[in-house]
Amino acid sequence: MDRGEGLTIRVPGDKSITQRALILGALADGESRIGAVPRGGDPLATARAVAALGVEVRGLDGAGSEPVRIRGPGLRRWTQPAGALDLCNSGTGTRLLSGALAAQPLEVVLRGDASLSQRPMERIAAPLRRMGASVDYLERPGVLPMRIGGGALTSVRHDGEVASAQVKSAILLAGIGAGVPVEVREPHRSRDHSERMLEAMGAEVVEGWRGDAWSVRLADPPARLEPLDMDIPGDFSSATFFIAWAALATGQLPVTIRSVGLNPTRTGLLPVLARMGVDVEVLPRGAPGGEPAGDLRVAGQGAGLQAVEVGGDEVPGLIDEVPIVAVLAARADGVTRISGAAELRVKESDRLAALAVNLRRIGVAVEEFPDGLEIRGTGKPLSGRVECFHDHRIAMAFGVLGASPGCDLAIDDPGVADVSFPGFWELLARVERHSVAGAPHPGPTPAASPGAGRCIVVAVDGSAGSGKSTTAAAVARRLGFRHLDSGALYRAVTLALLESERGSEDVEDVTPAELDALRIGLEWHDGTMHVRIRGTLVPDEALRESRVTSEVSRVSAVPLVRDHLLELQRSAAAGPGLVAEGRDMGTVIFPSAEVKVHLDAEIRERARRRLLQRGRQPAPEEVDAEAARLERRDQRDSTRAIAPLSRAEGAVTVDTTELDPPGQTEVIVQLVLPFLTSVEYN
Ligand code: DC
Repeated sequence: MDRGEGLTIRVPGDKSITQRALILGALADGESRIGAVPRGGDPLATARAVAALGVEVRGLDGAGSEPVRIRGPGLRRWTQPAGALDLCNSGTGTRLLSGALAAQPLEVVLRGDASLSQRPMERIAAPLRRMGASVDYLERPGVLPMRIGGGALTSVRHDGEVASAQVKSAILLAGIGAGVPVEVREPHRSRDHSERMLEAMGAEVVEGWRGDAWSVRLADPPARLEPLDMDIPGDFSSATFFIAWAALATGQLPVTIRSVGLNPTRTGLLPVLARMGVDVEVLPRGAPGGEPAGDLRVAGQGAGLQAVEVGGDEVPGLIDEVPIVAVLAARADGVTRISGAAELRVKESDRLAALAVNLRRIGVAVEEFPDGLEIRGTGKPLSGRVECFHDHRIAMAFGVLGASPGCDLAIDDPGVADVSFPGFWELLARVERHSVAGAPHPGPTPAASPGAGRCIVVAVDGSAGSGKSTTAAAVARRLGFRHLDSGALYRAVTLALLESERGSEDVEDVTPAELDALRIGLEWHDGTMHVRIRGTLVPDEALRESRVTSEVSRVSAVPLVRDHLLELQRSAAAGPGLVAEGRDMGTVIFPSAEVKVHLDAEIRERARRRLLQRGRQPAPEEVDAEAARLERRDQRDSTRAIAPLSRAEGAVTVDTTELDPPGQTEVIVQLVLPFLTSVEYN
């Protein structure tokens, strides 16, 4: 761990690529493996929609560790869903699915949440109708809910007035599905994720300028699509917030953002950053699913930022990053001009207005135009309250500005960041904490942030034989956290009492002074816990002796003993994180643990594991007998008056029946990752 090397972070997977992988996987012929799928609302909604269309989707509802597997039935093999498909807030999912549905001989109703039901659908409906599909609005013209009647389609050439990746993708998917050639022409190049993925799946897509228009043509649609095998790269737009953070804070460590999608239609911000004086180094790392990916390294900024002009052809390639350009412009030398960005008025908020209002409010001079902004950079302190307008990018852009020197901003609704970047505030806090930027500065204090410097606690409980101990230890090793084995502390008290004059008689009457005299202590070597009794290290075997095992449950039921161990257990929460294992971890000891996990397994499997632990392959009758014993023990455990075994509120239950130990570990590690979004030193 060399602090001089800088920080390495990861950002969530790209949702645009995820949505395409889910829908195209559902059209492929055979099983696709899609790893690192972000489990946010939009991809989930899309995946559930394809599942409702009769496509087998696995690995989605788990805790998020395993890859999603989609068994594509082939083109035109979807089946009539039982009801309307709810795309929740997923605009991309809705528009792409509409294209794919236009080629299926089905009648499907698509609907969404209140916000999605405001967004225009006619842009995709019109070309799909021209191809022969029927698209009807069920409530109000031009918006969801809408019904798509699909089937045989005819070839189409679509000349779009504005470049739109979603419209283009819908038409390409309709063409692929129906097996008819299609061509889309647009005034600028829009994002080409669909084209790349289709090519990776064996389709031939011909692209190029035709006069003033960018043409994308599917001349000879293939009869089948090959399944995908890919990991979703990190979202470039999410990564840009941390590039901006590094650019705004002076003199901090270099930051490396790992495995970010580097599709050239998305990275338009990079040349703009270069003109502003921000140096971003790109280290390529392959092209999963046809998508180039790589690490981004930003050196700590020393020199001042320069104002820029951004407009015209450049805008589609950085449309989502305009808020970033705007907050950097607030600190740049000179006047930054952004034009040609009228599209931003119909994003999650009127983003141009939201930027102008907030910049002005915190003390930056801004002029607003129908298609852009003029921002006069300033070095003076900036402070005030930022209104997010339900827009995640506004919240995060100002969050990053607020985390820079000389800024004191309050973000009114930090929670909106979750839409695209769960864990954003935690990551920002951790990155700040690890930076060596001069004096600490206030930065934003969103209510959602657990605050910098906090040790992340993972509370693990579970029934006997659920795999709790092995898994807790393995999770701690994987994450570089400490592992608190609370059972070992109760065992230590039991052993110490057995060896004292008291013996195991009347433990219920033990006094605080007697407990103090045992001098139970904890120490840590590489995250592994060791227990001392009266100053002497206790070997593990001694804690597992059968006389200890047979008395420990009585000792652990004594309230005074539990109180006695409370502070000692809490003191274990130091360093980056703690995996705390034991029945009351998520309830009494660490009620506000970041992650709470309850492990369980079918009773016969638990019985089998316990017998295996005793070193033999059990016969079925033995398993039955052990299962009966376990059942009685569960009953006792869950009804005992002191520290009953009960699931903590907010705990995630993980059924380990069909998981091997590495699988169990992985599930929990994935639950913890959003809290880390893995800041690590190089
Ligand atoms: O997990 P183990 O077998 O080492 O636990 C030993 C005993 O301590 C067992 O009877 C459960 C009890 N225990 C407890 O009451 N509270 C804890 N936090 C951990 C263990």
